[in-house]
Amino acid sequence: MSKLYSSIKIKDTLIKNRIVMAPMCMYSASEDGIATQFHLTHYLTRAIGGVGMVIVEATAIEPRGRISINDLGLWDDNQIPMLKKIVDEVHKYNTTIGIQLNHAGRKARTNEKNIAPSIVQESGFEDVIEMDKDAIINTIKLFKDAALRAYKAGFDFIEIHGAHGYLINQFLSPLANKRTDEYGGNINNRARFLIEIVDAIKEVFPKTLGLRVSAEEYHQDGNHPEDLVKIINFVRDKLDFIDVSSGGVIAVPINAYPGYQLNFARIIKDNTLLPTIGGGLITTPQMAENAINNEDVDLVFFGRELLRNPYFALNAAKELNTDIEWPTPYKRGKI
Ligand SMILES: Cc1cc2nc3c(=O)[nH]c(=O)nc-3n(C[C@H](O)[C@H](O)[C@H](O)COP(=O)(O)O)c2cc1C
Repeated sequence: MSKLYSSIKIKDTLIKNRIVMAPMCMYSASEDGIATQFHLTHYLTRAIGGVGMVIVEATAIEPRGRISINDLGLWDDNQIPMLKKIVDEVHKYNTTIGIQLNHAGRKARTNEKNIAPSIVQESGFEDVIEMDKDAIINTIKLFKDAALRAYKAGFDFIEIHGAHGYLINQFLSPLANKRTDEYGGNINNRARFLIEIVDAIKEVFPKTLGLRVSAEEYHQDGNHPEDLVKIINFVRDKLDFIDVSSGGVIAVPINAYPGYQLNFARIIKDNTLLPTIGGGLITTPQMAENAINNEDVDLVFFGRELLRNPYFALNAAKELNTDIEWPTPYKRGKI
């Protein structure tokens, strides 16, 4: 039996295999942030296709936190019903489903002026409003409110988006956070915004809680995996898994090759002892199997491979000589 197809329990969530659909913005929501028929088809198809864990794309906690005006949102109760429908349908295929909550901060693209921890000269993001204490408190509250809506939609877990240079990552990174108050400076202070968001979400969301991080910022003065270990360990007892990605704070060329982020994931996993999801340019079942066998990660995320091939998880089992149950209507297609 392949390890990739073994189940894993994270907190109270039993995930049937280790294949994770990475969060991927589809830029296909209506301008009021409501999921569409496209989203239902898109996520349901991957569930039918055998994925163990779906992470719904970056979903904005307020309109000015969107990466595009067609992002999903969870700032309004009207956004709950369609997400609930997606959750209910995905659950019929024994697939675990969570949602990634995000605020894009200085990287937002809306008609409003962006907010950020700091105005950083020559960063390309000078035209932003530096958040005062009230804005910080308000934004934490918006994360909490969105988390409650995620709970009402029935999601099994929330993944906080702390990666890719978006707002939380902007606070964490010395490259984007130049504050001199209690939210900037040393690593404890830079982590404060994240810690307060985690605490706020936990008040309303009792289920599984994960965090996506950029473990490497590809700049000598930026965060590196060891820094993320410290940051995660501040909130370790409140988190149930870590999803390890990299980059996005500043624009730099990255030497990306299959599995290029696995060594970052390994450092995080070994030093936080939290269940860890890793990946990046992983396209074959054997690569994913090896990553788990080597104990680099506990689960593997697939992004673009699942866009190309929604039935990847059904087909990959055969390559790993593992017999899995196919959805009944598709059984006659099983090789
Ligand atoms: C179309 C697209 C949209 C993405 N949107 C998100 C997102 O919403 N949140 C996120 O954390 N990462 C996002 N990513 C990054 C993926 O989650 C993943 O980390 C990346 O694609 C590398 O994995 P892959 O090589 O398997 O595709 C996106 C990637 C793609 C291709």
